[in-house]
Amino acid sequence: MNKLFAANWKMHKTASEAGQTAAELLRLVSGSLKPGREVLILPPFTALAPVAEALRGAQNFFAGAQNFYPQKQGAFTGEVAPGMLLDLGAGFALTGHSERRHVLGETDEMVGQKTAFGLESGLSIILCVGEKIDERRAGQLAAVLERQLRAGVAAVPRDVQPARLAVAYEPVWAIGTGEVAGPTEILEAHALVRRLLVDIFGAAGMQMRILYGGSVKPDNASEIIALDNVDGVLVGGASLKADDFSRIVLA
Ligand code: PGA
Repeated sequence: MNKLFAANWKMHKTASEAGQTAAELLRLVSGSLKPGREVLILPPFTALAPVAEALRGAQNFFAGAQNFYPQKQGAFTGEVAPGMLLDLGAGFALTGHSERRHVLGETDEMVGQKTAFGLESGLSIILCVGEKIDERRAGQLAAVLERQLRAGVAAVPRDVQPARLAVAYEPVWAIGTGEVAGPTEILEAHALVRRLLVDIFGAAGMQMRILYGGSVKPDNASEIIALDNVDGVLVGGASLKADDFSRIVLA
């Protein structure tokens, strides 16, 4: 399975800045991208078109969205439907990012609805899961991952194409803090996620990508990406500059 290097730009960059960064990244990386690697940029909605345009025709480079609403269309002021994203060239979307769960109040059930609806609509989905520091300290890592993962895929057909569903393990305490999870912590969490995926999806669960996210930087990326059951990374802060992110992608 190809390793996925995903850039989550969160609420950063105007449309023109985003298009320029995507074009610069492509310049820095294309030609040197190792076989078996894919690059995904997740800009704000307003910058999807220029990013998709900058990446058009580039093999193994994709654009995606950070969020969407799980309805085809309708009276949902301020929301964006999967079909609108696909039309702009977004092939992927995140669900369950910790900022949506903990800052914007999304429940496990909502994340589950989005994951199933996004897949049904034709998007590939990266479902994010991860424990808060107090949950880890209370010994609840496995319980939190199991609850979020099972609820996240509750309505996903069991015969979903494994390439279209990935899980990102992002410990909340490691996001944007500079505090990266160590190899032991990453191995343990990814093994838990892998076991759950196989339990739920059978053999296809072995072919679903599990990404790590949380303070991935150019100087720790190669160590993380080499770990068992780490099939890619989801990068926030260090993905905002083309130079930094190119060093992660080429690590
Ligand atoms: P970070 O963010 O790399 O800045 O820690 C990761 C994420 O939130 O996806």
